[in-house]
Amino acid sequence: MSIVIQEKCKTITLHTKNTSYQMKIGNLDYLLHLYYGPRIPDKDVSYQIQQYDRGFSGNPYESRNERTFSLDAQPQEFSTQQQGDFRTPSIEVVNSDGSYSFHGKAAGYQVFDGKYQLETLPCVFANKEDHVQSLAITLVDEVSKVELSLLYSVFEEADVITRAVKVKNAGTAPMHLKKIMSLCMDFLNGAGFDLISLPGRYGQERQVERQPMTHHIHSIGSIRGSSSHQQNPFVILCDRQATEDFGKCYGFSLMYSGNFLAEAELDQYDQLRLVMGINPKQFFYELKPGEVFECPEVVMAFSKHGLTGLSHLYHDFYRTNLCHSKFVMDVQRPVLINSWEAAFMDFDDVKLVEIAKAAKKMGVDLLVMDDGWFGKRDDDNSGLGDWYVNENKIKCGLHKLVEQINDLGMKFGIWFEPEMVSEDSDLYRAHPDWAMQIPGRHAVRSRNQMALDMSRKEVQDYLIKRINAVLDDANIYYVKWDINRSLADIWSNALPAEKQGEVYHRYILGLYRVMDEIILTHPDILFEGCSGGGGRYDAAMLHYYPQYWVSDNNHPIDRLKLHYGTSFVYPTCTMGAHISDSGKLVPLKTKAVVAMCGTFGYELDATHLSEEEQALCKEQSDLFRKYYPITFFGDFYRLTNPFAPGNMTAWQHVTKDKSKSLLSVVVTNLTCNGPQEYIRAKGLEEDAFYRMNGGEELYSGAVLMNAGIPIPREVPDYTAFQYYLEKVKEV
Ligand code: DGJ
Repeated sequence: MSIVIQEKCKTITLHTKNTSYQMKIGNLDYLLHLYYGPRIPDKDVSYQIQQYDRGFSGNPYESRNERTFSLDAQPQEFSTQQQGDFRTPSIEVVNSDGSYSFHGKAAGYQVFDGKYQLETLPCVFANKEDHVQSLAITLVDEVSKVELSLLYSVFEEADVITRAVKVKNAGTAPMHLKKIMSLCMDFLNGAGFDLISLPGRYGQERQVERQPMTHHIHSIGSIRGSSSHQQNPFVILCDRQATEDFGKCYGFSLMYSGNFLAEAELDQYDQLRLVMGINPKQFFYELKPGEVFECPEVVMAFSKHGLTGLSHLYHDFYRTNLCHSKFVMDVQRPVLINSWEAAFMDFDDVKLVEIAKAAKKMGVDLLVMDDGWFGKRDDDNSGLGDWYVNENKIKCGLHKLVEQINDLGMKFGIWFEPEMVSEDSDLYRAHPDWAMQIPGRHAVRSRNQMALDMSRKEVQDYLIKRINAVLDDANIYYVKWDINRSLADIWSNALPAEKQGEVYHRYILGLYRVMDEIILTHPDILFEGCSGGGGRYDAAMLHYYPQYWVSDNNHPIDRLKLHYGTSFVYPTCTMGAHISDSGKLVPLKTKAVVAMCGTFGYELDATHLSEEEQALCKEQSDLFRKYYPITFFGDFYRLTNPFAPGNMTAWQHVTKDKSKSLLSVVVTNLTCNGPQEYIRAKGLEEDAFYRMNGGEELYSGAVLMNAGIPIPREVPDYTAFQYYLEKVKEV
């Protein structure tokens, strides 16, 4: 049983294979959080909570003169508002009488088999073979009648617990939500914790930062209307001593693509609270009587085996329980070539066919026609929204173009940026009110474009109809779905003034509806997400797209950090990675080794490559295919930290049965007459022997992991090595 309820002591314990999570309906029916960590017995651990008279911490009225009981010093499952807890609240409401107060008390619970569902938001799913139990606990405010349903699903084998919250206005008058988080996680003592996050910027997404928890509220979030390049909706809390291989690590991954916030507060008594959910900035959501608001899901995992242990939990779970596309597990991803860095918007059908012919010699399976094929689009001043083929460029028509590519034995892919509109477009001229713009003010432009009001049904319907028409008109195998600006001018012409605080969230709900209607209705198309690179690389997007473009920065040495940071939560099989002209001093082979850490492809003008270069690319494409079962389904190890001083970056993939491994190394710094350096493998079988790159010599797993592989010195700048290890059956 994953969920154990002990009626007598009122504890609720959730168990996965290696972790436990305990709550208790405590004093005065407050729902307390008692424990999350390595697996423990079901027994009540509330003795952990010691009570003192804490000056200036309020005591609930019902506790009479009991001055030692304060919500300010109790670990809570969902922190409340205006109840004497001065730490970060999980909920802020404005009641119909204008009061700011929520006083939730446990009013019941229900345990059921299978995964809970959200109607409006993407979430993870249970597969047939998964053992999943769920729990709904209701917290009710007796005065306002606002009801919270705290939802939990326990994925026992995966060591994952998901959480979500639904809020219902069970009262008789409208009320407003100002803040509603998906998760609150209290630790009785958090002084020894570090917080790890993935901040970045355009071209440098998901760089890793680790900071000790201090007595502040550390907040990580986005107000750009998308999860953003600048922060990622994923954080880790870990032991200060935790390394890749040792130490307790907690992960929290929010399935949401809009404004988000994670606040980690270390309080006056060293209690630690993390809340995570939709960013309350410019969020003011009306709930009429009977209405329900759903908060996005958080996927939580815990490992006592360090950061690698935690990443493996997320990689395994997100590979199997996040995205329904057949391209995740069942159909091998193609090697693609994308037209963007080859031609930008300056191409026609003839040019594309030439690129495809050259790419064919490089072992490429799929040609992607990027930005520039539609409307009037020769630069970024016009055309967005007009998703009709520009027959001045694609003179033969889309159908014929795709046929020509297919006749070469290749597949065809196409680019869209559905959420955007150019002022110089037929769509904008017909429906200027569909673009987001605050009445009476000039709109902020970014890349010369405006955002469509995705909260509007007509906008959603237009996109669904138009994009599906293009997809259904030709033999399209792949779609790249891009978004190239942050949102500003948050305003919907379809909503009254008092509902404008709902637009940020309604935009995301509208986007998910459009994605459902386009992506889920085309199960044979491979979708790749993109936001000017990796600006919206989050778990909710990966529910739809099996892969996401990591960054517009294709420089292979920068990519080492980009792949490293992204891998903390997202599996490498989701990481869109291509060989391009960026990095003139870096050998092509090295670029290929780096791109094999992801989905592998090309982003260059193949017609400009020499025959030798094309042949080298062919070898690399074939190697990618050879290593695919290892790199797409194996365990990933970060062997070095590219942010730390060092002369090389190394990583490794190992199949689940430890029989095959690919260990990759890029020499980033050459030191004159420096010491011999070794890279120690991980994840191999100690007692087994491995053949390296098909050679005669056999290497012991124990030696490779403990002594390491000597990396050749005196090599040209940016040399890369791949060590393909194959377990030998008998020695
Ligand atoms: C940004 C993407 O990241 C690029 O790869 C390319 O698709 C451009 N947009 C096209 O406008």
